[in-house]
Amino acid sequence: MSLKNRDLVTIDDLTNGEIESIFSLSDEMSGSMSQQYGLCRGKVMATIFFEPSTRTRLSFETAMHRLGGSVISVSDPRSTSFSKGESIADMARIVSSYADIIVLRHPWEGTAKLMADYAGVPVINAGDGGHQHPTQTLCDLYTLKKERGDIRGLKIALWGDLKYGRTIHSLIFALAKFGATILFCPSPGLEVPENILRKLVTEYGGELEKFSKNYKQAQTGAFPVDAAYITPGQPHQLAMMPGIDLEVAMKAGVDALYVTRPQKERFTNEERESGQQFPIVDQKLMRGKEFRKALVMHPLPRVDELAYDMDADPRSMYFKQAARGVPVRMALIALLLGAKEALVPEEPVVPKVDYPMYRRGYGVKCSNPRCVTWQETEKNYLKPEFKIVSFNPLTFRCVYCEHGTEPKCVASAEWHQGMVKNKKYHHASSHLAKKIKPENLIAFDLAEEAEAHGFKPGYYAQSPAKKEKPKIG
Ligand code: NCD
Repeated sequence: MSLKNRDLVTIDDLTNGEIESIFSLSDEMSGSMSQQYGLCRGKVMATIFFEPSTRTRLSFETAMHRLGGSVISVSDPRSTSFSKGESIADMARIVSSYADIIVLRHPWEGTAKLMADYAGVPVINAGDGGHQHPTQTLCDLYTLKKERGDIRGLKIALWGDLKYGRTIHSLIFALAKFGATILFCPSPGLEVPENILRKLVTEYGGELEKFSKNYKQAQTGAFPVDAAYITPGQPHQLAMMPGIDLEVAMKAGVDALYVTRPQKERFTNEERESGQQFPIVDQKLMRGKEFRKALVMHPLPRVDELAYDMDADPRSMYFKQAARGVPVRMALIALLLGAKEALVPEEPVVPKVDYPMYRRGYGVKCSNPRCVTWQETEKNYLKPEFKIVSFNPLTFRCVYCEHGTEPKCVASAEWHQGMVKNKKYHHASSHLAKKIKPENLIAFDLAEEAEAHGFKPGYYAQSPAKKEKPKIG
């Protein structure tokens, strides 16, 4: 099977079998590094890093050098035409006429998908703002597999900044795919965003339980478990219980503690000025019996959240995770360039959820100001596009950054049938809204916008909570 010419934008782009095939090739390559030289001879990789990076960029570049290919690189947006206002689409077209594969890191969420849409060569997302970082997740999963054999049934605690940590966002879906149980341990105020939890539950099935503050304190003391997720069909002690018993979960111990740095560069002013202290993972915490066998993982860089007293501890995996970035990325590059075939084990076909799309190019906009669709340079050609992921409440998911948006007003293209007097809008939660076929749906964030497009308030323009349905007769 070939992974040739594929993009890697989010971890959903790979099936479990394809991930396994990357890992077996990584094993093969790390066992015979010097023999890989020449595999990608004549190929050029462009690394475009518009956010700081040490590990990701250098390990990608090392990987390509070890494969015998060449690297062209930019790491300062000021040194490119990006600073002159060039769009991502144009950059994609140009760079893909020079290079055979592009590795992109960018602060705007959804940029990797946009680049992939316009580039004629494979694009690898090396981190797009707080959205995803799928190749870090490959290194994380590879480490879990190497150290624990099988990921299914492992209990992994995610610690720290679960709100802005893109490595966390990719890892959550990967752990769910491979059947691990996830314990969410966010620093206060840095909980996993709703759009990610929604996708986890609706697309990956399984059970998510959020714990109340009192419950948390009573059951876990210093260990701030906020929620737990269990994949479906787990022959697992926890899954058989009504609800999830955290105390039992903790007593049995966790298999890995995945620590992340507070992503201060993405904090709001309020978050930055809060002066909040972030909990530290150190020998003292790791003496707890729930961590007796826990691997300590971290995508790095660390700041203060992971103490140096952990470095010599045999449970600490973070330097190994970083080192494994080279064979994992070598395997990925070789597969996407078609220099190697993927040996994908037999796997059941997991049907993708087929959501109706909203592609009107006007009306509702992405609710995430960091989304690529909001950027000045992209406005001339890029139209917001959404998956309609729920009708109750009406919820759209941006195809670029995957943030959720709940439009307030809707109209139907069918109702107005070319007649201006029929152009009425209604509240998105009214019963009329639910009757609109997805292909006819016109959605707005605000009543003012609907009116600016020539729609008049219909009888159900206000929230139904404020307005009773009229009695018939
Ligand atoms: C991470 C990133 O850039 O998201 N680093 C990495 O790629 N290994 C984590 C971080 O910056 O905290």
